[in-house]
Amino acid sequence: MSGAIFLTGASGFVGRRLVREAVSGGRSVFALVRPSSRIPAEVEGEEITVLRGDVCRPGLGLAAHDLEALQARVTDVIHAAAVREPRDDSAARSVNVDGTSHAIDLALRLPRLRRFVHVSSISVAGTYPGRFYEDWLDVGQSFPNAYSKSKHEAEARVRAAQDLPSVIVRPGSIVGDSTTGESDPSASTFDKLIHAAWRIRRLPRFVPMPRPFPPKQLFPAVPIDHVARATLALALAPAPRATTYCLIDPAPPRLEAVMTHLCDRLGAPRFRLSVPLGPARAIASAPGVAGMLERVRFPVSSLAYLDCTLDFDDHNARNALAPADVRCPPFFGYVDALIDAFLERAGVA
Ligand SMILES: NC(=O)c1ccc[n+]([C@@H]2O[C@H](COP(=O)([O-])OP(=O)(O)OC[C@H]3O[C@@H](n4cnc5c(N)ncnc54)[C@H](OP(=O)(O)O)[C@@H]3O)[C@@H](O)[C@H]2O)c1
Repeated sequence: MSGAIFLTGASGFVGRRLVREAVSGGRSVFALVRPSSRIPAEVEGEEITVLRGDVCRPGLGLAAHDLEALQARVTDVIHAAAVREPRDDSAARSVNVDGTSHAIDLALRLPRLRRFVHVSSISVAGTYPGRFYEDWLDVGQSFPNAYSKSKHEAEARVRAAQDLPSVIVRPGSIVGDSTTGESDPSASTFDKLIHAAWRIRRLPRFVPMPRPFPPKQLFPAVPIDHVARATLALALAPAPRATTYCLIDPAPPRLEAVMTHLCDRLGAPRFRLSVPLGPARAIASAPGVAGMLERVRFPVSSLAYLDCTLDFDDHNARNALAPADVRCPPFFGYVDALIDAFLERAGVA
């Protein structure tokens, strides 16, 4: 019988859903929340113990009695804390890389530890131009931003920890719940795309919006409910140390088809004017333009990934999840639930 889960990043998009899913599956959760952060409603309840701490600090800054409680009860650690839009390299390093080392060190002090699940990201592939496999990490790729580089380095630290019973999950671009559409607009790139299309809906439909990505560009979507369910199932699945699982739509849609659907649903002009990525990036980062794009919540940081192939193998994940019948649903089966939920939040539905 499994003991309790210790979860970092519990107040975030992924963490909140993991808490909900773990508790509904009968698990007790110790949830790490930063001292200055609000405790979200999902992280309150009988089976949840909130611990205040910070992954940037050795021992995660936990009080001695909190560490004793973890040592007595925890069998599984899920490390999901990270900064996704770091202001610079040093912020990315201290939270994502050193924070991961601190989480590993703490996990190694837990006598009942059975599994350390590291929540990584497909961004570890950087700008690798072809299909990227789950067992790969270093293939000479370069990194488009500090986040991607830091997630790569964090994964390397997990793999290097020989005594750690680790598994690594690499979600794609996480979107809202595939049934209810419930999402976190600050953490989901797709929500930012919906918002951008929403802001231009009053422009005449014939205006061609610039499309700074190739027609074959894929959108590596994965809904939050699948990420949570799969992560918890993979924590329990038998696997050699450092087995890596890519959590992604096995047949990811093309970004152009996604944007066309979105614009048609919202009555916005389509993104159909092909423009080269280089100039598009230069314009997006020009003074004045970057701020304007941020205001309409255009996912400017995602422009960094538009010349990456974003083609990921997910055999390990599919094989390991099949016995538990956990499958990533196809994007176009639930995209309207995401848009409906957005419209409801915007007070339109
Ligand atoms: N969102 C995506 O599309 C996506 C895709 C692939 C992988 N991931 C990975 O999934 C994980 C969770 O991301 P998310 O989408 O849930 O992001 P998020 O909503 O921004 O949540 C990040 C979490 O990390 C916590 N955190 C940040 N700095 C911390 C620190 N110094 N000490 C302790 N906790 C700290 C945040 O706490 P506060 O509430 O205090 O800020 C928050 O709970 C990350 O590892 C991310 O790389 C996300």
